[in-house]
Amino acid sequence: MSNLVERLCESINARTPLNQSDLQLLIDGVATRTLPIEAITQWLKAVHTHGISVADTVALTTGMMHSGAVLTWDTSRPIADKHSTGGVGDKMSLMLAPALAACGAEVPMLAGRGLGHTGGTIDKLEAIPGFNCGLTPEHMTTIVNQIGCCIAAQNEAIAPADGLLYAIRDVTNTVDSIPLITASIVSKKAAEGLQALVLDVKCGQAAFMKTESEATELAQSMVRVAQGLGIKTLAQITDMNQPIGTHIGNALEVIESVHVLNGNGPQDTINLVAMQGGALLWLLGRCENEEEGRRLIIESLNDGRAAKKFLQMCIAQGASQSVAEELLHSPENVLVKASHITEIESSGNGWVESIDSMVLAQIAREHGAGRFAIEDEIDPAVGFILSAVKGDPIQSGQKWIEFHHNKPMNDTQRKNLTNALTVAATQTQPIERLIKVVQ
Ligand code: URA
Repeated sequence: MSNLVERLCESINARTPLNQSDLQLLIDGVATRTLPIEAITQWLKAVHTHGISVADTVALTTGMMHSGAVLTWDTSRPIADKHSTGGVGDKMSLMLAPALAACGAEVPMLAGRGLGHTGGTIDKLEAIPGFNCGLTPEHMTTIVNQIGCCIAAQNEAIAPADGLLYAIRDVTNTVDSIPLITASIVSKKAAEGLQALVLDVKCGQAAFMKTESEATELAQSMVRVAQGLGIKTLAQITDMNQPIGTHIGNALEVIESVHVLNGNGPQDTINLVAMQGGALLWLLGRCENEEEGRRLIIESLNDGRAAKKFLQMCIAQGASQSVAEELLHSPENVLVKASHITEIESSGNGWVESIDSMVLAQIAREHGAGRFAIEDEIDPAVGFILSAVKGDPIQSGQKWIEFHHNKPMNDTQRKNLTNALTVAATQTQPIERLIKVVQ
């Protein structure tokens, strides 16, 4: 192990402040790939075990942010983005970026691929024929200058230190560390040159943070660090027990997003987009309060401006004009379809009390909607469409879900899927997503 890492680990173990030039050397060594993997692992394990102070988390985040290109914009420009810690059916970015652009904000969004059981924005967008998420920082700037938003895959050009650190964390069981998650997420968002950031910290059975106290701790850490970097930031802690909206799976989530962009779609999804977008417009000072911000976002969905921005973004990122137009008109005609659709019926009468999103996510992943290894290929057609959600009345024998798949379903999957629906005899409440706001 190098002396540098030895010194840093000694400070971490003793809970004394890190030597800032040593920390910077470590980040440089990670970014330039000159520090041995074993040394990086040793350091990650020390941070994972003992934590580091807020001041050191800010320094780590700043160093990681500057390990690659940082997008720079005139400070008068309303540059904004959101980050979600990942959920089931979480397709918000596909609607949020164009809706914000339609409301005058500018969104140079960097997004990820699926992680664990959760889907990733990039895998969803890549279900659209021709859509290219591999943008350089220059290309991102050009598209944002032209149309106000773009969505690009995280790459080696921006925050490269995070790319390697994340890959090592993934295989060394050091992902679930508040300072490491904070630095990873906030460094990438800060490198976009943001004025405003909303963090959607998911909480519940199908989230990485299972309890409200864990979610709050992560939210507080990320808000503190992002604000420390001069970004107007708040976190919304939202419930991730029920799947979001009605469609789950890459191509199917594009379909639901198009419905919402066309002023239709499930209320749950519309509410989440409006809540995140409304908060961002308020943080940017483009409206008096979040309520007005939500109204502006909904107006942009209802009057076709958000859909038009989405169309422009698809074309700017490589889809042909005819594909993009057909996508907005009849998305089913453009996107791949599964060879099998299996319908599952309710065995109870009453109201939907819950749908186990973790079960849905696991089955979809086993059928190719997500990855188990980095090299796994995604099957974009795989997923679910819900015909009933929490709070809806349901009859015995009524279809509540469609499973779209290409491989045969096994008995365990069928049994788990059937049991994923819980029906109550008395009326249940519709989904309430917002648990609390941290700012
Ligand atoms: N997503 C990230 O980008 N980084 C983390 O550390 C966790 C989730």
